[in-house]
Amino acid sequence: MTRYLHGHAASALASHATRTAENSCGCLLPELRPGMRLLDIGSGPGTITCDLAERVGGSGLVVGVDPAADAVVAGRAEAARRGDGRWRELHLGTYATGELTAWWGGSWAVRVLESRFAEEALGLGLADRAELEAISAAWREWGAHPDAVFVIAHGELLARV
Ligand SMILES: C[S@@+](CC[C@H](N)C(=O)[O-])C[C@H]1O[C@@H](n2cnc3c(N)ncnc32)[C@H](O)[C@@H]1O
Repeated sequence: MTRYLHGHAASALASHATRTAENSCGCLLPELRPGMRLLDIGSGPGTITCDLAERVGGSGLVVGVDPAADAVVAGRAEAARRGDGRWRELHLGTYATGELTAWWGGSWAVRVLESRFAEEALGLGLADRAELEAISAAWREWGAHPDAVFVIAHGELLARV
């Protein structure tokens, strides 16, 4: 799992929040048109994200992605400060630590053998017992792998209109 070594203390967020689209991604600006859709990975406190959202306008969309809750809170505040009511949040569930991937992989290793999933797969002829055993073993192998990541969009969508 990645660790963001700077952290998101007020001092770090304040530094990041001095950034604007003009001072941080000037080469992109001539390319922008109303209606464009942009992905801002590592959006931090959202000052650049909000600048870009203003440039692509109401018909456009900017999706900011940041794993840090403190950064998302700061971005939410930045959009509110600007009076931009288009801010939406989608929270994703992830299994990305060794403990969590081992648990998730172990859970599925059992479920593919001993659940409705297994009954359906066998009953519909989609897999035989040996194939389910192989899938089960693969889940355990995946859960023990240091690069394992599993993302679930579990739908905490906060829409403020
Ligand atoms: C230096 S800040 C930049 C924030 C903003 N883009 C700016 O330029 O002001 C980097 C941001 O990337 C986020 N980050 C770190 N690892 C990430 C990852 N794997 N995926 C998405 N964002 C990540 C951090 O939480 C942090 O808020």
